[in-house]
Formats: sequence, structure tokens, C-alpha cells
Amino acid sequence: MGVRLVGISGSLRRHSYNAGLLRAAREAMPEGHELTIHTIAGVPLYNGDVEAAEGIPAAVAVLKDAVAEADGLLLVTPEYNNGVPGVFKNAIDWMSRPASDIPRVFGGKPVALIGASPGNFGTILSQNGWLPTLRTLGAELWSGQKLMVPGAGQAFDGEGNLIDDAVRVRLGRFVAGFVASL
Ligand code: FNR
Repeated sequence: MGVRLVGISGSLRRHSYNAGLLRAAREAMPEGHELTIHTIAGVPLYNGDVEAAEGIPAAVAVLKDAVAEADGLLLVTPEYNNGVPGVFKNAIDWMSRPASDIPRVFGGKPVALIGASPGNFGTILSQNGWLPTLRTLGAELWSGQKLMVPGAGQAFDGEGNLIDDAVRVRLGRFVAGFVASL
């Protein structure tokens, strides 16, 4: 049976470059393996009072179960102010609740990071910014390759679809490498 990846984009923007990169990653998956896209849309801001009163929000429970059942997780991260975007971190923080569930969801989970930005560095700082969080959650970073997409304004069209064939080739190599590691 093929490898089953779950991919999550850290942007809520309709024409997001990172959501487009994730769609392109799904298309670039090697034959016989699949990448399912899940969304952080609908994840509320974390509030311990809400958790205590109502438990885990439905959108978060869906994400947790999807990641728990996947062979690997692909995080497609934007970069804000040289770091991890709050909306994305917030979703992962919710997914780490209750803490007793962290081993089921993240423990030993192979995780790969990619990202796109209009600037020159293509999210290297936010990708690195994820590392302490992944370590804390007990996930296994796949560091076999790196993929940063700088100059996203040229690499994607106005709807966030990838139009740069060279990036598509690198993306294909990246997902093939991640799949082969699993
Ligand atoms: C940005 N952007 C940005 N880009 C980058 O490469 N380094 C950075 O530090 C920042 N900082 C930053 C802060 C804030 C608050 C915003 C809103 C944006 C630009 C960012 O890469 C750009 O908006 C992307 O389009 C975001 O990704 P999506 O939404 O296209 O996936």
C-alpha cells in the first residue's frame, strides 16, 4: 500500500502561494502514493477557558485524527516577520491539546517543511522557526532536502497556482524524497 501524507498550508488567504504550493505538491506525488490536503480554516484562537468548557473544537479534532492516521505530515509555511505565522502556530497549538494526546498525533511523526514567499529567502526563517515546536512535540523532522520558494510573485499566478516549472521539478524531487524515506 502507498504512503499517505497529510498536507497543511499555514495561510488562510484565498490566493495563497503556500496553499498553491501544497496543491502542486499533491500533483507532484509519485504514483501510488497520496497527499490529502487539510485546512486550518475554522480553527478558533486557542483559549484555555474554551478548551476547559467545550473540549477540542471539531475542526481541530479532524486535523488531529488526520495527522495521527497519516504516514507523514507536510507543513507548508508562510513567513511573517521572520518567523512562524501566528495563525499556523495557533492551529498546531490546538492540535497539541490535550497534552496526553501528543504522542498519538505527533509522536515519531515524520514531518517535512516547505514554504513560499515573495521575498528573497523563501521562508527559511519560518521553516527554522518551526524546529523547536516539532522537537517539543516529539515529531521527526525529515531533513533530507530543503525547499524554499523565493520570488513567489513570479512563481505563482494571481490565483496562487504554481506556474514555475523549475520549482515544480524541485517540488517533485522533494515529495519523492520524503515518500521514499517513509
Ligand atoms: C509578511 N511577509 C513576509 N515574507 C517574508 O519572506 N518574510 C517575512 O518576514 C515576512 N513578513 C510578513 C509579515 C506579515 C504580517 C505579513 C502579512 C506578510 C510576506 C508574506 O510572505 C506574503 O504575504 C505571502 O504572500 C504570505 O503567504 P501566502 O498567504 O501567500 O501563502
